[in-house]
Amino acid sequence: MTYAANRQSLSGIDPKRVDLVVGDICDYVLVNELVPQHDAVVHFAAETHNDNSLHDPRSFLNSNVVGTFELLEAVRHHEVRLHHISTDEVYGDLELDDPQRFTESTPYKPSSPYSASKASSDLLVKAWVRSFGIEATLSNCSNNYGPFQHVEKFIPRQITNILEGQRPKLYGNGANVRDWIHASDHSSAVQRILQAGEAGRTYLIGADGERNNRDVLGLILNLMGREADDFEWVADRAGHDLRYAIDSSVLREELGWAPQYTDLENGLEQTIAWYREHRSWWEPGKAQTEERYRVQLAAEV
Ligand code: DAU
Repeated sequence: MTYAANRQSLSGIDPKRVDLVVGDICDYVLVNELVPQHDAVVHFAAETHNDNSLHDPRSFLNSNVVGTFELLEAVRHHEVRLHHISTDEVYGDLELDDPQRFTESTPYKPSSPYSASKASSDLLVKAWVRSFGIEATLSNCSNNYGPFQHVEKFIPRQITNILEGQRPKLYGNGANVRDWIHASDHSSAVQRILQAGEAGRTYLIGADGERNNRDVLGLILNLMGREADDFEWVADRAGHDLRYAIDSSVLREELGWAPQYTDLENGLEQTIAWYREHRSWWEPGKAQTEERYRVQLAAEV
């Protein structure tokens, strides 16, 4: 339950199906008590936000590297299956006109403290597979969007800015490309890998959703009835990765997975409606998030 968690996200779920244990994945004793009570561990826990990692990297090393180490030791000792969730950012970035996309064999080349910490965690998992024979799979996914996403992320930040009468904020020149996938599609891919993935393998998850930031913001402004230029340019992120692009053909061909959200505009329309209808979910954390951005921006000037 860090700043990025929200208890309201569990409110629609049958309490008989979920036990919420509030703890730290770096807590060896707690992790060793919980892991043997399960058939599998799906390791989503992480510090995830690049901007935060540039200003205060310590928590990224703790949660992403030490936390993964503790889980690995626990699944090793208790012989429990692990699925490790990771990011396409471990592969660094691509040029805008590069015809290639990331594949399972692209070399690691992370750029930020966040992506370096996730790359480290992936390497730990691969080492535990090879040296100790743990039963683990990995997945590296592209940029998620959809309901329940923290308002620090690009798409919900701009939607909620507009809902609050603030202007959206675009970094640099808006040309950076991200490969968008709906969070439901990410989840269905993880479920498929958990059911049918081969131990020791890495699967790349993506939905062919490459768009530059300016275009995505243009879609949001249009869907929310604003003028195309009704936003602010702000200082670029340090070390800002130019482009991510995923080739998910292994997952599609070997495991028969396919995304359901193939039209970004439809997905965005549904996401905008969700944020309009769920103000009580995001409003309490909005001011604090914008204050963090303000302080980070001031520190760079
Ligand atoms: O690629 C997968 C990764 O996607 C995940 O591993 C990360 O956890 C997740 O945060 C996301 O990383 P990004 O850095 O790409 O996401 P973010 O939402 O921070 O930014 C998306 C793009 O939008 C990026 O090029 C920076 C830009 N941006 C972001 C914000 C918050 C803006 O132009 N304005 C903004 O206000």
